[in-house]
Amino acid sequence: ATDLKGRHLLRELDLTPAEFRGLLNLAAELKAARREGAEQRRLTGRQIALIFEKSSTRTRCAFEVAATDQGAHTTYLDPSGSHIGYKESAKDTARVLGRMFDAIQYRGSAQRTVEELAEHAGVPVYNGLTDDWHPTQMLADALTMTEHAGGRPLAELAFAYLGDARNNMGNSYLVTGALLGMDVRIVAPRGLWPTERVRAEAAALAKRTGARITLTEDVPEGVRGADFVATDVWVSLGEPKEVWDERIALLRPYAVTMDVLKATGNRSVRFLHCLPAFHDLGTEVARDVHARHGLDSLEVTDEVFESPHSVVFDQAENRMHTIKALLVATLADA
Ligand code: CP
Ligand code: NVA
Repeated sequence: ATDLKGRHLLRELDLTPAEFRGLLNLAAELKAARREGAEQRRLTGRQIALIFEKSSTRTRCAFEVAATDQGAHTTYLDPSGSHIGYKESAKDTARVLGRMFDAIQYRGSAQRTVEELAEHAGVPVYNGLTDDWHPTQMLADALTMTEHAGGRPLAELAFAYLGDARNNMGNSYLVTGALLGMDVRIVAPRGLWPTERVRAEAAALAKRTGARITLTEDVPEGVRGADFVATDVWVSLGEPKEVWDERIALLRPYAVTMDVLKATGNRSVRFLHCLPAFHDLGTEVARDVHARHGLDSLEVTDEVFESPHSVVFDQAENRMHTIKALLVATLADA
């Protein structure tokens, strides 16, 4: 069994490859148990604080449902609902919440904030997304890849991430692929590749795990032979509106279209997206971009998003099962 009692998850590299795989196995067990109506409550009475300085649909709901399934209780602090960062430092907030709660989830901008919470809370702290990393998403994506790999281990799989690779998802995919020994391709304009520091960390890791890392600006070369093609929004939470025009100009060649999926040469290629996605005109932001640029979709076409290749809702569901595994592994009694 995976025992990470008392541990934080601030970034993927907090876990060894064996611990990462252990969490995936536990998530698969918990998922099966829930389906069969046989889930055992291992977190009865635990209290979990959920601090969100940025908005969320999946991450918040995944933590709340996972905790409730396991008998724990959550308290949600929304972007305007606490003093953190304005009237009270992360250090003081951590020491207060650490007296009341058994664990703390934090979503916000600065990685330093989640690190400070972890340094001072005295209870496990989980990064629910910062500008730099999105580790709970990586657990869900790795579980989803495993489920759609036809029995092949992760180390035998290739995935290509297209789009803004200097954001949390680009960083997290690169190091997670390296950690799990995968064939990982970052396909993006050079200016949007992960920073030199993140690339060096991933390269060092890849040496130990046997991962293959490719960074390229060339879409057909980057996706050739890929089992999975992933993308993310071109403008992330917290980035100013003004970046849209520049990003659209840079990233249009990296949109995931049916031609990109065909270029993999793999008829059973699967499409991943952490969501929310800009694939149709169903949102206010999308209609605004459409009015200014005449585009019906950005990072992925509606055709790909709605196709049988797309496993995005399995991914979304797996946020809950994997976050549950994280809670059980870090909080449950052995
Ligand atoms: N994928 C993800 O983190 O979604 P939310 O922003 O809705 O939590
Ligand atoms: N890169 C995106 C991920 C959303 C889950 C963002 O930070 O907004």
